[in-house]
Amino acid sequence: MEKIAKLIVDGTTYELPIVTGSEGEKAIDISSLREETGLITLDPGFANTGSCQSSITFMDGEKGILRYRGIPVEQLAEHSRFVETVYLLINGDLPTGEELDRFSALLNDHSLVHEDMRAFFENYPRGTHPMGILSSMVNALRAFYPEIPERTEEEEINKTVARLLSKVRTLAAMSYRISRGHKVVYPRHDLLYCANFLNMMFDSPVKPYVFDDDVVKALNVFWILHADHEQNSSTAAVRLVGSSRVNLYAAISAGIAALWGPLHGGANQAVVEMLQEIYNCGGDLSPFLTKAKDKNDPFRLMGFGHRVYKTYDPRARIMKRMCDKVLKKLKRKDPLLDIAKKLEEIALKDPYFIEHHLYPNVDFYSGIVLRSIGIPLNMFPVMFAIGRLPGWISQWKESHEDPNWKLHRPRQVYTGRKERDYVPIEKRG
Ligand code: ACO
Repeated sequence: MEKIAKLIVDGTTYELPIVTGSEGEKAIDISSLREETGLITLDPGFANTGSCQSSITFMDGEKGILRYRGIPVEQLAEHSRFVETVYLLINGDLPTGEELDRFSALLNDHSLVHEDMRAFFENYPRGTHPMGILSSMVNALRAFYPEIPERTEEEEINKTVARLLSKVRTLAAMSYRISRGHKVVYPRHDLLYCANFLNMMFDSPVKPYVFDDDVVKALNVFWILHADHEQNSSTAAVRLVGSSRVNLYAAISAGIAALWGPLHGGANQAVVEMLQEIYNCGGDLSPFLTKAKDKNDPFRLMGFGHRVYKTYDPRARIMKRMCDKVLKKLKRKDPLLDIAKKLEEIALKDPYFIEHHLYPNVDFYSGIVLRSIGIPLNMFPVMFAIGRLPGWISQWKESHEDPNWKLHRPRQVYTGRKERDYVPIEKRG
């Protein structure tokens, strides 16, 4: 029997159906609430609001579980590579060998970027944040790759998806090279996705890029761990903007803009800046912990806390191990890693962090992995964006194909002035 919730308003009882997900999580379906009662719900920040039903990613914030299409992220990080995980997210199942080869070849075919787009990069003021550039360049892709009326909608979507997955990576590397005044390195057909990106970033005629399997693996893992995270802020932005039926480039561009913020994808950059500041101040952690706990101080311990995880973020655990592995392989030490580990150790024993359920999130250690493989600090959020792209695309596709799709349009409780008359300017003041 379908379970119901009962709501009593002014003595009248209303029955609301309870929806149960495949992992047993429950939600009260309030889609008829306003029609039946004249009421809406109020949930600032949407912490208690499910905006959709989705079969892509499952996370349990209390138990620290994250699965893509049912497969634990730990297994994917161990055994998969990024492009295979992308296929899984977008198509729902792991590919056969033949499907994966076809998919890789498709991404390869679309990896070049229209040469005229270089003019944009060359004319951005030096010092522009790469996330601002990426967001506008992705929006600009529509102008360079317009819709072809002869194609079916499915053909058009498949082309757009392949272009985005492949070209965003090329655009990111191009933007870095041009910002440094270096020659653009084109994608190579003989390299796989992650190695190709590293080559486009770092190859030089005077110092050819030397591949290291562990570095390539680290990048695969970094991107796999960022590939989707259900209805986070940037994904919600993609779904919301996409719900107006704007083109996919524009919806993804909105996702990049949302990700840029320091409370979301910008946190990986903010963590390293914070660790660097601690290092520059001599490594004393206590003033930073005191500030983080002070209600009157806006400072927060970056890389700590999460809207959904109230335990250790499973991605942070993998990322922490990855820091040790990559640094060991590259025979390097990073003093920021020592500071991060010490900070974690102290914070996890501190009553404030325990009571607030604040644990390291994915960003706490990810910046150290990125630093070790040579990615510049201001490109950290861009690296997150490339990783999250398959998640945004699969969530957009799911919403686009949903027979119950609706324009996203929340309501509000108005708290402004009551009706009053317009006063001509000469009678004001
Ligand atoms: N340092 C210190 N205190 C914190 C932190 C932190 N990092 N995070 C949350 N708190 C405290 C808040 O001050 C608040 O305390 P109070 O209840 O005593 O007033 C309480 O914990 C709840 O905080 P909210 O902001 O309401 O929690 P929310 O779920 O909205 O926040 C967020 C989640 C934004 C991620 C927050 O933990 C934060 O700002 N963390 C630092 C930034 C960060 O690492 N962002 C990356 C998130 S992961 C990602 O997007 C990939």
